[in-house]
Amino acid sequence: MEVVIGPAPELGRLAADAIALLLRAQPDAVLGLATGSSPLVVYDELARRHDEEGLSFARARAFMLDEYVGLEEDHPERYRNVIDKDIATRVDLAPGAVQGPDGLAKDLVVACRAYEEAIAAVGGVDLQILGIGTDGHIAFNEPGSSLASRTRIKTLTRQTREDNARFFDGDVDKVPTHCLTQGLATIMSARHIVLLATGRGKAEAVHQLVEGPVSAMWPATILQHHPHVTVLVDDAAASRLQLADYYRETYLAKPAWQGL
Ligand code: F6R
Repeated sequence: MEVVIGPAPELGRLAADAIALLLRAQPDAVLGLATGSSPLVVYDELARRHDEEGLSFARARAFMLDEYVGLEEDHPERYRNVIDKDIATRVDLAPGAVQGPDGLAKDLVVACRAYEEAIAAVGGVDLQILGIGTDGHIAFNEPGSSLASRTRIKTLTRQTREDNARFFDGDVDKVPTHCLTQGLATIMSARHIVLLATGRGKAEAVHQLVEGPVSAMWPATILQHHPHVTVLVDDAAASRLQLADYYRETYLAKPAWQGL
């Protein structure tokens, strides 16, 4: 696991570099897209490169991590609409190139199985962007999630609903109670995982993710078993890392040609 500590715009550029490199080598690459605040610096940088440098997503495909259950089709906080607004419509992703779990499906169990099959059908995700919850969730795999889980329905914790109330007029009761989410094993199947975290509120989760024991109580710790994970954090999110100085020195000494 590589840990890079820097200011948020720099983290966004690093993640965008990795995606641009991938798309140049493999224009039909499969991207994994997270929703929320953390990836916005990446999406802004990708949109800028698309506009100003011709970075093309025309042949790429993308899969979302998760979706609220029951938010109506045109609800602005439905993750499908958020992803369209934050990235899909800002670049040249083809219509239909982005898929997400169907939180409005009549049969949610069938929808989850179909989603796993859709990811497998394109050969899996090449590069997955992740955020992390204050309780250590990735996607919506809340504490106690099976480390071997696949896409399924989950109940959001009170903490996550409070964290996300800022997107629902500050009203926790407007935040849905259920979601469909890729499982931890689904996420672990991605070939490269780039996780972003900023702000002091994420410091404990980042410490557990990088330095804590692997445990379902901090679901992100499963990433310690993945061979290619990049953790991009600002100073505040890195503030509880015991080996922060070591990570800084290691990154400073890293040859530029290595990339992430
Ligand atoms: C979103 C997702 C969540 C968020 C996490 C952090 O698709 O899967 O795991 O990444 O809740 O959210 P932000 O980035 O808004 O702090």
